[in-house]
Amino acid sequence: MKLSRRDLLRGVAALPLVPLLPAVSGCGDDADPVVFVHGVASGDPTTDALVLWTRVSTAPPGAPVEVAWEGSSDGFATRAASGTFVTDEGRDWTVKVDVTGLAAGTRYAYRFTALGETSAVGRARTAPTGSPERMRLGIASCASFPHGYYHGYRALAGQELDAVIHLGDYIYEYGNGEYGDVRAVEPPHETFTLADYRTRYAHYRSDPDLQAVHAAHAFIPAWDDHELTDNSWQGGALNHQPELEGDYVDRRMAAAQAYREWMPIRDHLDGHIYRRLTFGDLVDLYMLDTRLIGRDQQYDEGGPSLEDPARQLLGAAQEAWLAAELPASTARWKLVGQQVMMGQLPQFLNPDAWDGYPAARARFFDLIEQQAVRDVVVLTGDIHSSWAMDLARDPTDEAAYDPATGRGSLAVELVTPGITSPGLPPALADGALGLVAGNRHLEFAELSRRGFIVLELERERLEAAWHLFEEEQIADPAPQAPRVFARVEATRGTSRLARLA
Ligand SMILES: [Fe+2]
Repeated sequence: MKLSRRDLLRGVAALPLVPLLPAVSGCGDDADPVVFVHGVASGDPTTDALVLWTRVSTAPPGAPVEVAWEGSSDGFATRAASGTFVTDEGRDWTVKVDVTGLAAGTRYAYRFTALGETSAVGRARTAPTGSPERMRLGIASCASFPHGYYHGYRALAGQELDAVIHLGDYIYEYGNGEYGDVRAVEPPHETFTLADYRTRYAHYRSDPDLQAVHAAHAFIPAWDDHELTDNSWQGGALNHQPELEGDYVDRRMAAAQAYREWMPIRDHLDGHIYRRLTFGDLVDLYMLDTRLIGRDQQYDEGGPSLEDPARQLLGAAQEAWLAAELPASTARWKLVGQQVMMGQLPQFLNPDAWDGYPAARARFFDLIEQQAVRDVVVLTGDIHSSWAMDLARDPTDEAAYDPATGRGSLAVELVTPGITSPGLPPALADGALGLVAGNRHLEFAELSRRGFIVLELERERLEAAWHLFEEEQIADPAPQAPRVFARVEATRGTSRLARLA
């Protein structure tokens, strides 16, 4: 039987409050924690810094709690960095430390101590300097808790990785019975308030597989819509009814606050989440916000017409930032981590993806073409299915785009499926509604299986592998292993993907 957060807290409440043990009694990885019930996490690695995260989850003592933290690169024989952080109810008892002064390209262990307990040990690697030979990244998104078990997160925890890029839908806002029925969540109703979102994160983070992947790797996260509510944009959302659910700005601020409290993302003073992370001269990673900061309303939900050239997906400020950043990059690979599918499926127009913002997509293509930006790899979540495709302005134009050579392709896109969120019916792949058959720019598509991507980047080539589970595995609480379902590669300079056997 799996314990819920309520069960855990009920157990905690039976213990003496604030058990001020004279010495640290490490709970390590093998004893049930009482204080650090929600595990540890790290994120946003730079050459000299890591964000470290935990939470004091014992029955709230009322007064602020001082938490000691320490990081080590030699199994805690010596400390590379240490300090204290005071947390309180105002930040939901979360702890987030941006530890600086670390060594580049180094694997650290870290842990926290408070109220007589030492947390589980987390591990994370700082970004390298110089000219790394290779990097290995996990890519994940869309992890609806009610739809099943986090075997994908557990498998990612066991991979040798530099970091995990999480492209959003880390939580979902729905109440029980509204989306998925394998596992229940708390609160049982849809999340609207700060307390609701905090409780939802706490429930998700009670999952041992999710705790395991956080403890194993630094995350580089960005939100999609469900961290707030379905099909959100800067001024509203499909799943937000102001007359019933209150002011959208209040809900958006509550969701963003809980996200910042619970996720190991570096906090920016001006509140945005788009940012660059650099891994020597091998990779520049641009994490974007296509969801909240500048998106105009989806045209089919009452927004302006599809072709309006003024319509924004990124917003003017973020678009200007990217236009300055991307051409200036000298990295071998420019990764663009973002939420919604950029590539076109001629049989289907998705109003919530870049399809619904064709002028914004054209401006992104203009930037790449006019500034001669090479080796751009777009990383995408959101759509609960697996895709590998060339990005051409019009993939159906046989004169302008040749899939055999990559001529006319400006970049490539890798789409990761849901960790648990349900995909599309396999029958949509071909037939009358065929999303896959006949599309020359697709190297791979799989519509229904859940899993994740492992992306290996080398000096002259990259390789992406989709690790996928069968449908029945996701609903089975027993440990499950994925299989490598497909692999694609790209050679630098080609903007073209090729399927590997
Ligand atoms: Fe999703």
